[in-house]
Amino acid sequence: MRAVVSVGGSVLAPDVDPARVETYAAALDRVVAAGHDVGVVVGGGPTARTYIDAARALDATEVELDRLGIAVTQLNARLLRTALDAPSVTPEDYERAVAAMDAGRVPVMGGVAPGQTTDAVAAALAEDARADRLVFATSVDGVYDADPTTDATAERFDELTPAELVEVVAPMSRSAGASAPVDLLAAKLVERAGLRALVVDGTDPETVARAVVDDECDGTAVR
Ligand code: UTP
Repeated sequence: MRAVVSVGGSVLAPDVDPARVETYAAALDRVVAAGHDVGVVVGGGPTARTYIDAARALDATEVELDRLGIAVTQLNARLLRTALDAPSVTPEDYERAVAAMDAGRVPVMGGVAPGQTTDAVAAALAEDARADRLVFATSVDGVYDADPTTDATAERFDELTPAELVEVVAPMSRSAGASAPVDLLAAKLVERAGLRALVVDGTDPETVARAVVDDECDGTAVR
């Protein structure tokens, strides 16, 4: 089985805690040791937001803010790799990432280009690698019809078609450092490629590992 996991920076390194990174790496290592091909894309989390907010106050362009965000995602990718036992690489493009998977290594990517988030990177990698599924490990346990952190009436979708996912995500704002359960471009790539996607609570690496291996979803399943 082949899967790509989008690990939000806010779940991997909210506070850059080595113990949390180690736990994540151990869960991924177990999946790889069981014989599965895994590609990982890591987000920037609060560290990226800190840099983006500072540079925005300094009047940087949105594209420059994106570059800062990308740099932090790559920093987090390298941090995760330090804790992984499986052989890994940080490729800067999809072709090299797929080649790494084909060669039995784990690509751990960050961002690649301004104007998107690492969710979109993960969706593109999942399609290019012909992954069986794409797991979004986020700070919320699925896709909601409103922001569950601020709206107590928000309801979770257990299942969505890819077209419905696009519809739900589309109205959400898209500026550097913005937070949505799944990036709009990622949703569109999921729709275009007909990918199987699972949006799960990424704060528990075991939940993520189960989604990767067993297609099990206590979150939102997209197909
Ligand atoms: P993230 O993927 O971390 O975005 O990229 P996020 O929405 O903040 O997700 P969480 O909180 O980690 O789950 C951080 C920022 O890096 C830039 C964007 O500005 C994004 O908001 N970025 C990332 C890009 O411009 N291109 C990429 O390919 C990836």
